[in-house]
Amino acid sequence: MQNQATVSRRGFITGTTLGVASLGLNWPGLLTAGERGLFPEAAEVPAAPIRLNRNESPYGLAATSIQAIQNAIISQSPRYPFEEPAKLAEALADRNGVSKDHVLLGCGSIEILKMATETFCSATRSAVVAEPTFEAVVSYCPLAHATPVKIDLTKEYQHDLPKMLAAAKQSGGLIFFCNPSNPAGTYIGKRETEEFVRQVPAGVTLLVDEAYFEYIDRPDYESCVRYVREGLPIIVSRTFSKVYGMAGLRVGYAIGHPDLIKQMSHHRLANNPNQLATTAALAALKDETHVHRIRRRNQEVRESLFQDLHRMELKFIPSETNFVMVDLGRPAGPVIKALEQRQVLVGRLFPSMPNHMRVTLGTPDEMKVFVREFKGVMKA
Ligand SMILES: Cc1ncc(COP(=O)(O)O)c(C=O)c1O
Repeated sequence: MQNQATVSRRGFITGTTLGVASLGLNWPGLLTAGERGLFPEAAEVPAAPIRLNRNESPYGLAATSIQAIQNAIISQSPRYPFEEPAKLAEALADRNGVSKDHVLLGCGSIEILKMATETFCSATRSAVVAEPTFEAVVSYCPLAHATPVKIDLTKEYQHDLPKMLAAAKQSGGLIFFCNPSNPAGTYIGKRETEEFVRQVPAGVTLLVDEAYFEYIDRPDYESCVRYVREGLPIIVSRTFSKVYGMAGLRVGYAIGHPDLIKQMSHHRLANNPNQLATTAALAALKDETHVHRIRRRNQEVRESLFQDLHRMELKFIPSETNFVMVDLGRPAGPVIKALEQRQVLVGRLFPSMPNHMRVTLGTPDEMKVFVREFKGVMKA
């Protein structure tokens, strides 16, 4: 059915709502029956607008998590979050081969980044970050009266680790190392990471953001939790917002040296995180099939987008995540705006990469719409 308002079983307004129809758009290609079977939890049809702007999972949370929230809503909602977060911290400690005092929970991993900035930065201890990077640490620097020191990515769009180390030697309190990185989507392999980690100057804390850790599938990639186990002064932050599909629920965590975790916990929001979110996260850890399926589907969608971009003769940065930076060869701002007018939202502009547009990977159907509208905008 085209150019008519329709509402799916779950109440999602489809891409053929009047708003889109009035733009003369046509969104065919709903999820196939097979795909619906694979992802019953995903919206059946692309909703308008299509949200490819915040690196969320379009597949939602695991059925086990939905069930857990439903079971807990009456019994757990009136209770303050003490026992459930303690259970989650224990489960995360077990799975990462550390003890509970190495784990700290947050309202999303952004709370971990905030606590780390407030704890390890000050007027005399700066935050050394890549440029561009996920902006949270930079945006929290004023809370600690700290100055961010921004180090440009290399020409391969990777963190420039030697330059970051040199900057940290000058005045560093914190080094923010996002691996795999946002917004570039690149990663640094095991050997180079180890060399870097072992050279972090004394007194400087290394904060390794592994928000996209579950997506990467490279034999030469390794999580930095290994160095936490070794006792190095490192904090690794992770999240349930990405592959676990819980961005709206807000659960993240740190795995770090117990002394650092203790210092950071003074900046924690009391009674965090949300009780039902914690329940959903605990359930998610018990069902890894959801993560495996989504990782595989994400790889397929990413590969298909790479092929489309090749056909469009556009360059892009090879990505290990659920988003891709596309080099438009011209200012990205107007293209981002034009796509928005066509009800397709893509990532914000990163000022130091003005010709690049960040596209989060949606479902195959959402990507069909994206590619079609993107081609339309580029031709216009
Ligand atoms: C690299 C990185 N770290 C942290 C976050 C924060 O995520 P959350 O607070 O939802 O865990 C994001 C969100 O996009 C991100 O891209």
